[in-house]
Amino acid sequence: MELPAFEPYKIKMVEPIYNSSREQREKWIEEAKYNLFNLRSEQVVIDLLTDSGTGAMSDRQWSAMMTGDESYAGASSYYNLKNAITEITGFEYFLPAHQGRAAENVLFSALVREGDLVPGNSHFDTTKGHIEFRKAIPVDCTVDIARDLTAWNPFKGNVDLAKLENVLKNNPAEKIACIIVTITNNTCGGQPVSMENISGVSRLARKYGVKLFLDSARFAENAWFIKTREEGYSGKSIREIARELFSYADGMTMSSKKDAIVNMGGFTAYRDEDLFRRASAYNIIYEGFITYGGMSGRDMNALARGLYEGTEEEYLASRIGQVAYLGTKMKEHGIPVLEPFGGHAVFVDAKRFLPSVPDEEFPGQALAVEFFIEGGIRSAEIGALMADRDPVTRQNRFNGIELVRLAVPRRVYTNNHMDYVAETAGKVFERKDSVRNGLRIIKEAPILRHFTVELGRAQRG
Ligand code: F0G
Repeated sequence: MELPAFEPYKIKMVEPIYNSSREQREKWIEEAKYNLFNLRSEQVVIDLLTDSGTGAMSDRQWSAMMTGDESYAGASSYYNLKNAITEITGFEYFLPAHQGRAAENVLFSALVREGDLVPGNSHFDTTKGHIEFRKAIPVDCTVDIARDLTAWNPFKGNVDLAKLENVLKNNPAEKIACIIVTITNNTCGGQPVSMENISGVSRLARKYGVKLFLDSARFAENAWFIKTREEGYSGKSIREIARELFSYADGMTMSSKKDAIVNMGGFTAYRDEDLFRRASAYNIIYEGFITYGGMSGRDMNALARGLYEGTEEEYLASRIGQVAYLGTKMKEHGIPVLEPFGGHAVFVDAKRFLPSVPDEEFPGQALAVEFFIEGGIRSAEIGALMADRDPVTRQNRFNGIELVRLAVPRRVYTNNHMDYVAETAGKVFERKDSVRNGLRIIKEAPILRHFTVELGRAQRG
């Protein structure tokens, strides 16, 4: 029999977790206006709000920080990062940015104009925000099966090529700012996109003369799914798969806070020198000079190292395996979860979990609040609150899907922590029939409202 797999690292430094009582948590969440972003991290027992910027860096990354070069221009750290990006993605040109949304800002400043369309698979909320902020329109061309939360399909993050071609065929090429494909597709459940699909999108992009960009925050996890699920890739390395993925695109945006396992950072990368030059002007205005763009030299060094560590197969197997471990435990408690499990998170189906809470009372957020009260778990609503109001009609966008995302930070928690999370969710599930009322909005911002929204308990009979 084969020996069991294990995390390919050991722990050298630890950080305390503070436990709390249910009474304390009830008081804290009320004070936080039922918005989990308003909690102090010490009030949280297990923090699954996000896998972004929350990973544990390795000793190699920390030591690379000590040799960071803080020169304003031409720092050796910049060249270290450039070499890593070119080796892993194949792109010749890159611009550092302080995080993923800053990278989007730089790219979209160069590409997106009022009235443009930006088709793709489900755009992440900051991507959507940046497009709509420019009075352009993100067009979601995700495959329909993504909306079926339990259908088993290996690549539920895919773009529906027929939907995409419709958009490309029925609009002049100059109205299409670019196509954005998000790998993995975070918004529809951390679901991967297949190589075949990306190459199909690329063919359409070339046919209609439109550029294709990959929102690559979780490209390594996507590559791992291609390796384990797509025919013809099991013998290839993660880096070979990643290189092939990027070969189909004109460039990428990256939130390095995910698969590159750093706490802050991002970049855009380009095949085309011309576009790189245009984007450089925006990088300088918004981020900083093109050889640091919002990052310190030490952070660029840690990122260069993180790109290699994040694309190691043993690490990815243990990381994605831990997420699947949590998903399996949740299922054992009877909890309705999105399947297949995502690469970075387990998504709970709040509509099936809390069927008595109507859409207008935000069942996703209501469930996230219950997970916190029960065991101090912090999670994120992916539902109508996050979907914002329609920019034209100002109506809430209830699209029938209400999820709670339990995002697992990289190299941070053990499977005992995952057991605790599953037990907590299981206890809420046992008392689910007593949760009948959801939440109502007291105050909200016009865009990206979920970060700051203030909520109260809904009062319905
Ligand atoms: N694209 C995707 C697919 C993302 O998931 C995120 C961030 C971004 C872009 C923006 O990157 O945060 O570095 O500015 N996602 C985080 C999350 C916040 O929790 O999923 P950023």
